[in-house]
Amino acid sequence: MCSDVGRLDREGSRRKQCESLSQIRTMTIIEQAVDVLQKAKKVVFFTGAGISAESGIPTYREKLSGIWAGYDPRDLETAKAFRENPPLIWGWYLWRRLRVAQAEPNAAHLAIPHMANSLRHVSVITQNIDDLHERAGSLNVVHLHGSLAMPKCFACHRPAAVPPDQSAVPVEGALVEPPRCQRCNGKMRPAVVWYGEDLPTQAWKAAVRLVKDCDLLISVGTSGIVMPAAGLPDLALASGASVIHVNKSDVAMGEDREFMLMGAAAEILPMLLERIEAGKTRGA
Ligand code: APR
Repeated sequence: MCSDVGRLDREGSRRKQCESLSQIRTMTIIEQAVDVLQKAKKVVFFTGAGISAESGIPTYREKLSGIWAGYDPRDLETAKAFRENPPLIWGWYLWRRLRVAQAEPNAAHLAIPHMANSLRHVSVITQNIDDLHERAGSLNVVHLHGSLAMPKCFACHRPAAVPPDQSAVPVEGALVEPPRCQRCNGKMRPAVVWYGEDLPTQAWKAAVRLVKDCDLLISVGTSGIVMPAAGLPDLALASGASVIHVNKSDVAMGEDREFMLMGAAAEILPMLLERIEAGKTRGA
């Protein structure tokens, strides 16, 4: 056993042996994942905040700074928080919007559309409210938690654009009074799904259909704790598909047909793409 490292004089060589054994184990998981991906005809990418982290968009479980220091981002994502302090919540979303506008898709977003070919259909279901998948070239992205693009009225739900004079906020954030709805004078809010709210029906139905029908779901950069979205990898497994997790932390559930690839999405997804491309060339 690698944990039984023995005497001091043999420690160095034992450690080397353990390192190479764990390397072989890691490689085996990667090779298995590549094999599953190479054989899959319908692949669903299910993404969370971690895929956009390397584009400079903070995840939801990161500590906030500026005027939001001391708040848990999850406490800001509720209708109650908006009712209690509309300028705080609206300012937070304006800041997120600006961060997204200034960000570029990273290597993980960019690798996804390249995995599609005439034999492999690739779709994307995201919990993210940014548009980095679309800007990386993915089509028909299913947004389960809405989008930052177009806000809506808190009262009558009518969509409206953010006024140009609100297109910039300071880095440390600012309290910003939400603009008013032209129709009912209600306060504008982001068109995202807050805790306690239903997911958009069409998006949810589309996601379930895609997941039940896929051979492989690749879950990227999500903590997998916010339901019902977090249940999609389970649904894939229950429907007979395999699941690959790509995450900096171990988020696997230990099921058969489940593969955990630990690391940064912007490194792992291009590596998977390179390997399936290399396999294609060898097979040709
Ligand atoms: N590469 C891969 N994974 C990463 C990276 C990275 N570069 N950086 C962070 N991660 C992982 C973290 O280990 C974590 O598991 O991404 C995950 C981010 O988790 P969350 O912040 O919880 O984001 P997400 O899972 O998308 O949250 C789900 O929660 O608050 C709500 O509505 C919000 O859509 C969001 C939902």
